[in-house]
Amino acid sequence: MAIQWFPGHMNKARKDLAERVKDIDVVIEMLDARLPASSANPMIARMTRGKPALKILNKQDLADPAITQVWLDYYCSKPGTRAIALDAGERAPVTKLVSACRALAPNRGGLEKPLRVLICGIPNVGKSTLINSLAGRRIAKTGNEPGITKGQQRILLADDFELVDTPGMLWPKIEVEEGGYNLAASGAVGRNALDEEEVVLELLRYLMKHYTTLLQERYNVGDIEGWQDFEVLEQIGRRRGAMLGGGRVNIQKAAEIVLTDFRAGSIGPITLERPDEWKAWEKAAREREAERQALREAERLEREQRAKGSR
Ligand code: G4P
Repeated sequence: MAIQWFPGHMNKARKDLAERVKDIDVVIEMLDARLPASSANPMIARMTRGKPALKILNKQDLADPAITQVWLDYYCSKPGTRAIALDAGERAPVTKLVSACRALAPNRGGLEKPLRVLICGIPNVGKSTLINSLAGRRIAKTGNEPGITKGQQRILLADDFELVDTPGMLWPKIEVEEGGYNLAASGAVGRNALDEEEVVLELLRYLMKHYTTLLQERYNVGDIEGWQDFEVLEQIGRRRGAMLGGGRVNIQKAAEIVLTDFRAGSIGPITLERPDEWKAWEKAAREREAERQALREAERLEREQRAKGSR
């Protein structure tokens, strides 16, 4: 599955970020706690290299707490990096966020050297919701579809602490296939960009591997040991009465049920990737890309040879 989504405003966002990052002390990247690596923007990583970084694993209420801890430890083990988990129910996000940033830039602070912090993240990760809650009023839009925060916001979280918001940012290319599926399952990728059934089958495969009990409890599917993903989807459809005439299961409807449940957290707290899995997916993606390039190169050489031969 190749999702390429690169609207014109990304170029502008890229330039804005390059300009802004110079004066910034700490870069906060908001991630979706259910898919921390997939929801990271490789462009942000490249453009903010060397800056102290705070990763916010947001929507922790939807994620598997044990795996959230694994990810927090993973990020905190990287140099110049801290990580905290948050969700919209957090009573004092300011306290958590400010103290983590101050720890990352101990030399900044006080009116002479105010701390300037940039916050960024892919759409739908919950940035507007967090900013609204930090600012204590509605200053950025929140909405149903993955959206774009227009313009730039500056919020004073303390006399010497300025939070700068970036306009919503998308990613130029999804480099890891599993990451594309996970983004799609979470709802971060627009509906038209994906085949819903394919996304749900991929999601079910993961749930069958790591969260069988949650699946069984939610859909009463019984013992699914040794089942194929599409058999489980059909069974869910049957259990939920998603039927067409003649006893056939309405697969489209069954897929929608699973997606809606997953996004709402109704199946249970679930995380779709672990650091070691992500590394393996990245490695496989690099190898596939190298093979593709080698193939393209071989084809190019062959064309050249043929062209010479016909002369
Ligand atoms: P964005 O600015 O990063 O694009 O994201 P935004 O804040 O608009 O949030 C996207 C969706 O995620 C919203 O739901 C929002 O309510 C939800 N959300 C934000 N933070 C959290 C969280 O910590 N936990 C959970 N479970 N959900 C969160 P929506 O259905 O698209 O909109 P609405 O129904 O809330 O208006």
